[in-house]
Parts: sequence; structure tokens; C-alpha cells
Amino acid sequence: MSESKKSDRVAVVTGGASGIGLVLSRALAENGYSVVIADMLNSEPAAQTLRSEGLAVVGVKADVTSVEDTANMIAAATGTYGGLDVLVNNAGIFTSLTLKPFDQISPAEWMKVMEVNTLGPFLCAKSALPALRMRGGGRIVNIASTSQLKGAPFMLHYTSSKGAVVAFTRSLARELGGEGITVNAIAPGFTLSDGVLASGMEVKMGDVVRRTSRSIQRDQMPADLVGALLYFAGDGSAFVTGQTLAVDGGSVFL
Ligand SMILES: NC(=O)c1ccc[n+]([C@@H]2O[C@H](COP(=O)([O-])OP(=O)(O)OC[C@H]3O[C@@H](n4cnc5c(N)ncnc54)[C@H](O)[C@@H]3O)[C@@H](O)[C@H]2O)c1
Repeated sequence: MSESKKSDRVAVVTGGASGIGLVLSRALAENGYSVVIADMLNSEPAAQTLRSEGLAVVGVKADVTSVEDTANMIAAATGTYGGLDVLVNNAGIFTSLTLKPFDQISPAEWMKVMEVNTLGPFLCAKSALPALRMRGGGRIVNIASTSQLKGAPFMLHYTSSKGAVVAFTRSLARELGGEGITVNAIAPGFTLSDGVLASGMEVKMGDVVRRTSRSIQRDQMPADLVGALLYFAGDGSAFVTGQTLAVDGGSVFL
């Protein structure tokens, strides 16, 4: 499948009601995918906006930590569009984090971040598997982070959870490769998503990240992740699996 042509492929994007997930959902839809936006927030307004532009998008309310919700999310894809080809595990706890030294992180905070960022992709992949098998193959794309590759202070639960996402990507790739299902991860650098802009994180971290860490010294926007997603979702990456691609303006070199 050429990425510039219309396809009849179907994608589910978790955490797609806002931020990076919404930009990725739009990009997939603009490239011919039918898209289910799944989010614990009401994702129908975002979906409606995209539909008004002629794109094939529906929104479903789904908490990725719920077995029932993740099953419903996949049923929305198969019921509305007839199948599933691509799962994008984007939902995560990031912009709502309170940065703090690790010894001030409570066990409950640790568990919550782990639940959404690691149990979530696991449940979504489990729910998606039968539908991907029905197609004879597919794509799972996990959104990790460069913070776990570089080590980042004051968010030990978050960086640990994203380290788990990379390990999950590698091991699941080994399990599913024989079925034509690839599993890859995109590791964004600090990205000016809606949530980041609303949280004040940019004010605290933006200039430091730009000046001290990047080869390409500008802000990273959600749109910078689109090329990597279309590559991992498309036919051009059919023989690429278990990989983590850092998209961060040349900050981390893998
Ligand atoms: N923004 C960054 O700098 C950055 C950098 C690296 C990685 N990431 C990762 O990219 C992804 C998106 O980041 P963002 O900045 O757009 O984050 P965000 O916090 O702005 O948006 C995340 C989305 O996930 C949804 N969500 C949260 N918990 C959920 C749950 N339990 N079930 C379903 N949906 C849920 C939220 O409602 C929201 O729409 C996250 O996985 C994040 O960790 C972000």
C-alpha cells in the first residue's frame, strides 16, 4: 500500500481525543485510513470535526485500563469499518504528571502511571489481536518516549513505564512476527502537545530541551511524529519489527 494513496485500512488510536493522538488520528484519516479515536474523554467532538472535513472517523469512550472498554473499542472498529489493521497505543499519563523526586512518589501514583502506560497497551493489544488475525496481519505502534532512553529526573514512574513499553514492543514483536503482525515503537522527544501547552511544562522545560539537547534546535510538534507513524503503519515497514525509532530532533542516538 502506498502511503499517499487511499486505502481501506482501519486504525484505532488510543488517547486520540487530544494532543499527539488527535494529530496522529487526523494524519491516518487524511492518508485514507478509517479511524476509531478511543479516549477516556469524550472523543466524539474531535471525531465529528474530522468527519465534517470528509474523513472517516468515529469516536468511542474507552479507558485503556478496562478490559471491557478495550473490547468495545475494537468492536467499534470491526462493527463500523469491518476490521482492524493498525493499533496505535498512544494513551498515556504524561502531561498530568507532577514532577517530583522519586522518594516523594507514592505507591498509588506509581501504580496509576504503570496501569495506564503499561497495562493499557497490553489490554489493547490483547483485544486487538483477534481482529488483526482476521486480516492475516497488521501493525501495532506503541508511543514510548526518549525520556526513558536518556534518563529523566523527577518522573521515575513515567520513565520506568516507557522503558516497559520498549521491552513490550520487542517481546511482542517476537511473538507476533510469524503472523505478519509488526510491533514497533515511536519515541518522541519533548513535544508541544495540547496537554503540554496547557500544563506549563513548556515554560519549565522547553528552552532547556531545545538548547542543550537537540541537534535540530527547534520545538518538537505533534506533526513531527506523523512520518514515523505512517511508515510503521504502512507496507514499507513490513520487514521491520521490534524497533524503537526516536523522533526527537537528534537528541538521542540509538
Ligand atoms: N508530549 C510529550 O512531550 C511526549 C513525549 C514523549 C512521549 N509522549 C507520549 O505521547 C502520548 C501522548 O502524549 P500527549 O502529550 O498528547 O499527552 P496528553 O496527556 O496531552 O494526552 C493523552 C491522551 O490520552 C488520554 N488518556 C489518558 N489516560 C487514558 C486512559 N486511561 N484511557 C484512555 N485514554 C486516556 C487523555 O484523555 C488524552 O487525550 C503519551 O503516551 C505520552 O506519554 C509525549
